[in-house]
Amino acid sequence: MKKIEIITRPEKLEEIKAIVEKLGQYSMTVSMVSGCGLQKGRKEVYRGVEVSINLLPKVKIEMVVGADKVDMIIDNVCKVAQTGEVGDGKIFVYNIEEVVRIRTGEKGTVAI
Ligand SMILES: Nc1ncnc2c1ncn2[C@@H]1O[C@H](COP(=O)(O)OP(=O)(O)OP(=O)(O)O)[C@@H](O)[C@H]1O
Ligand SMILES: [Mg+2]
Repeated sequence: MKKIEIITRPEKLEEIKAIVEKLGQYSMTVSMVSGCGLQKGRKEVYRGVEVSINLLPKVKIEMVVGADKVDMIIDNVCKVAQTGEVGDGKIFVYNIEEVVRIRTGEKGTVAI
């Protein structure tokens, strides 16, 4: 089991939801987050303290899936989320130790 964590432009959320639904992936956790990547960008001096001012709004989409689905989901998400401009985002993949469906007590892949 793997967790796919996608951090990308908020305006891509609906398209990403639609494409993963087509792939049979219905479960996800979505958060609105702030972040910055390589272009941590310009810093300004504010009252003598150097502050970073470029935390941009991003959306974080987390999905726990069977390991066999990871490549297919990543390929399709990249297709809809890629603009080619900086800030398109990143996808992180984590190993997942265990999943428990609280309602039934089921564990492992059947609980995904
Ligand atoms: N190494 C990282 N660790 C944690 N979060 C990251 C990391 N890289 C990117 N992010 C998150 O992803 C968002 C988008 O990153 P971004 O696409 O700007 O990455 P980048 O490495 O700067 O690539 P690009 O040059 O295409 O902009 C960031 O705002 C941040 O929330
Ligand atoms: Mg960037």
